[in-house]
Amino acid sequence: MKPRHLALWSGALASLALTLGGVAAADAGASADEVSPIYGVHLPEGYRKWELIAPAVEAAPLNELRAVVGNDIAVKAYQDGTLPFPDGTVLVKRAWKHVQSPEFESASIPGAATTVQVMVKDSQKYAATGGWGFGRFVNGKPVDQAQHETCFACHQARVQNHDFVFTRYAP
Ligand code: HEC
Repeated sequence: MKPRHLALWSGALASLALTLGGVAAADAGASADEVSPIYGVHLPEGYRKWELIAPAVEAAPLNELRAVVGNDIAVKAYQDGTLPFPDGTVLVKRAWKHVQSPEFESASIPGAATTVQVMVKDSQKYAATGGWGFGRFVNGKPVDQAQHETCFACHQARVQNHDFVFTRYAP
């Protein structure tokens, strides 16, 4: 075989591996103890590298710093002002204890990570809850069913007119 053929082959194999990898990533970490009750939502792969939608602070009772990030579909929807958010949108809210900087009095730093919360848009699968599936994770594990029963009610009560999403794109 000429080297050119070899190169073609390895290219084809690489794209096959990418395709398979993509499928695996979409369903990553989906073993039974890693998905949320009710919704079956798991922590999405690679969310730590996702783009910031907006930061948030919760003063009491939790006293947390937060950051809402989104996947590419979410970011595009925010940029284009698309509502409702399209299927495939994933929003992740990261949260940390709000800690005073030891180096500068009036500055805040993230302390221990507290929860990671996820909303996944699938208008068919989650038709009963506005098209959104919810997951709350502590130390990488989903919390109990009772906590998941509260998610949609609060989002529905306050932001039904914004596709059940609180966070606006930070200017
Ligand atoms: C009592 C009200 C309330 C409940 C219950 C609640 N949320 Fe939220 N959620 C909020 C608020 C307010 C925000 C806006 C960001 C912030 O201030 O932290 C938010 C933001 C989010 C976001 C970022 C997208 C957005 O809407 O801004 C996700 C993801 C999320 N919540 C997931 C969950 C999950 C999962 C549950 C259930 C386990 C849940 N929420 C329960 C009030 C609530």
